Amino acid sequence: MTEERKGLFLSAAMDAEPDLSAPAPERGILRQSWFLHKTAGWVKERSLAAGRPLTACSVCFGCQMNARDSEKIAGVLKMAGFELTEEENADFVIYNTCTVRDNADSRVYGRLGRVSHFRRANPDMRVALCGCMMQEKSAVEKVRKSYGFVDLIFGTHNLDRFPEYLYRTVTGTEKITEIEEEDGEGAESLPIARKYPWKSGVNIMFGCDNFCTYCIVPYVRGRERSRMPEDILDEIRRLRDDGVREIMLLGQNVDSYGKKTETGASFAELLSRAADIDGIERVRFMTSHPKDLSPEVIRVVAGNGKIARHIHLPLQSGSNRILKMMNRRYTREHYLELVQAIREGIPGVAITTDIMTGFPSETPEDIDDTIDVVRKAAFENAFTFIYSMRAGTPASRMEQLSEEEKKAGFTRVLSVVQEVAKEQTAKAAGTDGTALIEELNSQIPGYVTGRLSNNTLVHIPGTEEMIGRFVRVHLDECRGFYYFGTAAGEPY
Ligand code: 5AD
Ligand code: SF4
Repeated sequence: MTEERKGLFLSAAMDAEPDLSAPAPERGILRQSWFLHKTAGWVKERSLAAGRPLTACSVCFGCQMNARDSEKIAGVLKMAGFELTEEENADFVIYNTCTVRDNADSRVYGRLGRVSHFRRANPDMRVALCGCMMQEKSAVEKVRKSYGFVDLIFGTHNLDRFPEYLYRTVTGTEKITEIEEEDGEGAESLPIARKYPWKSGVNIMFGCDNFCTYCIVPYVRGRERSRMPEDILDEIRRLRDDGVREIMLLGQNVDSYGKKTETGASFAELLSRAADIDGIERVRFMTSHPKDLSPEVIRVVAGNGKIARHIHLPLQSGSNRILKMMNRRYTREHYLELVQAIREGIPGVAITTDIMTGFPSETPEDIDDTIDVVRKAAFENAFTFIYSMRAGTPASRMEQLSEEEKKAGFTRVLSVVQEVAKEQTAKAAGTDGTALIEELNSQIPGYVTGRLSNNTLVHIPGTEEMIGRFVRVHLDECRGFYYFGTAAGEPY
């Protein structure tokens, strides 16, 4: 195996050597493979001439979906022969953008401002932007106008053509902007460089059809479409063969898996079949939707110890009036019934959530309702966001609250969320659990950090060899949202 291919997860199409003396194939993954091998030749030559490896830096903003896409971007760059670095003065720098909230956009512009100095100093450097923000016309116009040095822009629907764009960008000087409104061939066959060798996300579906009125995702990620179960299960088996022990099934609304696309399997069936794969020790999934989570899914999780005791169930608001305006299509009563069914059905489960405050017309009474649900649901953890107006969404046409009003609700909700989460976490202190050790603890020498089935972190004395392995742990002490513990068995 060549150095470039070490640590890469390759599809059969990518593994085969294309005939570079023939013209590039018309389309598909074979065309991308051709361009990737061409780029590899070019990178090799340039590295020799420069007397150093060419470097590439890939920066990811946003959710688990983007993280998975960025592993494909890193895979392509690595296979092309770039040395991956975290330094943003690399020869090729790419930002995979998020646009779910305004501050995600601001962070990208901040980074572009910084990288512009490196780009100016090094005419051979290339800078690329991709991901959700690039699906917005106004963002692309702003980049083209104010950050004219950016060499390559593409969106969420044509990541599959990244090798071709990369070749054109690094070997030429033209500025490329390629945005599509619909999926191309799908990026599933691109090489993948996983961030963690032992765990991996697996896309089961793409896009979202829910059109919550505040949310930009349906506009930038497109209509909901599900992958076929056999393709997903085959990918999981290949990941298992490649050393993966924990997977996370990814979708904007996993509970509607297979409903729109005829896949012949429900999410509950897919989950159960994924967990039955030998060698896969733990299965997570994200994100569930309260209007679609079925009793069947609860039963499957309860009945299979390999499925993590964790359900992430975004609440957004505890006020029925606001939920209606958000087009969430459930009530606070339904949500609380669901929480009760989950807690009764799955002992030891952790329920986490997303909450948004500051939605148009939200009053202090609506916030009271949200706080009431937080207390009743007793979330183990919650991500709390301030509503951010996204252009083009129905909520952007509603009258907006002032920044102070938005902030006031946020502060109130956050303090209760923290109080409740601490109480919930403390309950398991003194018990045992199984943790997958993820990294050396950066704060405390001689400690490693692992994740329990219910997604809570535990710090235990340990060494680097434990990383990527499961270990039985005793949770000695709860410190707010995490534990200090000790190994209660051999790592496996
Ligand atoms: N403003 C603030 N938060 C948002 N989210 C989605 N859209 C917005 C927005 N416009 C939050 C939701 C969602 C999470 C991923 O991001 O809470 O569940
Ligand atoms: Fe956005 Fe709602 Fe779809 Fe989640 S379910 S991605 S919040 S539209």
